[in-house]
Amino acid sequence: MNIYALVVAAGSGERMKSGIPKQFIEIAGKPVLMHAIEKFRIYDSSIRIIVVLPENQTDYWNELRDKYSFTVPHTVAVGGATRFHSVRNGLDLITEPGLVAIHDGVRPLVSIAAIGRCFETAMKLGNAIPVISPSDSLRKTSPDGSEALDRTGIKLVQTPQVFHTSLIKKAFLQDYLPEFTDDAMVLERTGTSINLVEGNRENIKITTPEDLIIAECLIKRTV
Ligand code: C5P
Repeated sequence: MNIYALVVAAGSGERMKSGIPKQFIEIAGKPVLMHAIEKFRIYDSSIRIIVVLPENQTDYWNELRDKYSFTVPHTVAVGGATRFHSVRNGLDLITEPGLVAIHDGVRPLVSIAAIGRCFETAMKLGNAIPVISPSDSLRKTSPDGSEALDRTGIKLVQTPQVFHTSLIKKAFLQDYLPEFTDDAMVLERTGTSINLVEGNRENIKITTPEDLIIAECLIKRTV
């Protein structure tokens, strides 16, 4: 079976308050995005990797590849206005059936075991997404105040989210909705139920400057 990794890295990183988008910031010796891509290559050296980049930063990426002697083979797709549109552009490059793992380029700490769990379940059931349980208490706010939520059964959703290519390509033909924050939501709207597997707690999505510090510590601890 063909397997693909579609790594989306076309965000502008406004919440990072830095000139460079977070996926290109160096941590533990190389850019965040290179750490993320390498995880899939380690999982399976035959995986076909597609990286979605901001349209105006493909030359910059080529410079980074040279600077860091980054040799993991991959194809580049150009990003869109939202994550949904970036994923859709990447999926357009997949023409053969198989399984595709769609991953945020700002999650360099996904474990090889979590990638494996997603692919194994998606192989059997058509899709799989990694989740973890929240450790904080939860409250829902409203104009009147807030109320405690029962966190039993609540899950936090990570990536990679793995799908049969035919299912997810078809799902991405539908119109964009602003509430789509991940790929499972796009598939779910076509009437398909989503399978959950255990993620890995350290697989944080680097969003703020504090996340970069935490990620650097975790990467240095694991290499
Ligand atoms: O913005 P958000 O935190 O949801 O971004 C998650 C991932 O989606 C990041 O890796 C980001 O680079 C990517 N993204 C993208 N194209 C966009 C917006 C976000 O590839 N237009």
